[in-house]
Amino acid sequence: MSEEKRKIIIDTDCGSDDAMAIAMALNDERYEVIMLTTVSGNVRLKQATYNALTTLKVTDSYYPPVYMGCDEMLVRDWVGSAETHGEDGMGDLGLVDYDLKPAEGNAVIKMLEALRDNPEKTIDIIALGPLTNLAVAIRLDPETMKRVRRILVMGTAGLGTGNVSPVAEFNIWQDAEACKVVLKSGIDPLIFVGWDACLDDAMLTPDEIRMIRESGPLGGFCIDSNVVLMEMNKGRFGDYYLDMADPSAMAAALYPECIDKCDKYYCEVDTGEGPSYGGVLVDFYHFSGKEPNAYICSKLKPEIYKEYMYRTLKVR
Ligand code: BDR
Ligand code: CA
Repeated sequence: MSEEKRKIIIDTDCGSDDAMAIAMALNDERYEVIMLTTVSGNVRLKQATYNALTTLKVTDSYYPPVYMGCDEMLVRDWVGSAETHGEDGMGDLGLVDYDLKPAEGNAVIKMLEALRDNPEKTIDIIALGPLTNLAVAIRLDPETMKRVRRILVMGTAGLGTGNVSPVAEFNIWQDAEACKVVLKSGIDPLIFVGWDACLDDAMLTPDEIRMIRESGPLGGFCIDSNVVLMEMNKGRFGDYYLDMADPSAMAAALYPECIDKCDKYYCEVDTGEGPSYGGVLVDFYHFSGKEPNAYICSKLKPEIYKEYMYRTLKVR
């Protein structure tokens, strides 16, 4: 008898690395992506939605509904990350299809409905952007959100340094108040894949990038949409590397064999006015004496992770 597919919801601010992560999930036959929910982050909500729809079209695996969620952050203003992913979030190369249409219905409501309509602990939420949609869902109906099997987030600096400030990583920093709601929700397990997990040997090298680009239309789309990030990385890391944050998180979620270090800590996010806004304090040495509330995945096994990425992007 064939095993039932595990259901997942992908919450995304679809930029270029989200697109790659979404394609990976759609091509892993052990899972069923039951919906994509979009949120402002890398780009504003509408653009993120077109980008997600374009990704479904290019991947051409199957077509889960794409629901639009929050356009505004909980408290602060949206900032975005044009310098990292381009104005359109997809490298500004004209890759986005603006004729595609999202499904009717609000992402937060649809997420809650799915959790209510399915047996408890059968749906995973994988969040690849700011946590605004999740926070609103928790505020609306905390008990229903606890029916989730687990929430895995690409977010935090892990045990390392930030990518938008010395301590903060973009997804958390863009809406730290939302992260606070999620951290205090009591949802368990809550897993954060830190930015440090996609650095060092987990980055794609120029040769690996070439190989993916030349593998076919999907590989070409995944790499071309990341040109702005690649250019930025030439300055940051000395060559055309790609730090693939969302694909790392997706691999950790769907193929845990690639995880090297993931431990539970007491975590708290800074929502103050100072320079560490959006930084997540990871109580590594247990100074606070407080119960650990979240897992931090800070290291992947690069070979296993990349092998999974190549397989699901149909590189080889
Ligand atoms: C995260 O922020 C965005 O730039 C990426 O899409 C990823 O989700 C990395 O910090
Ligand atoms: Ca993202």
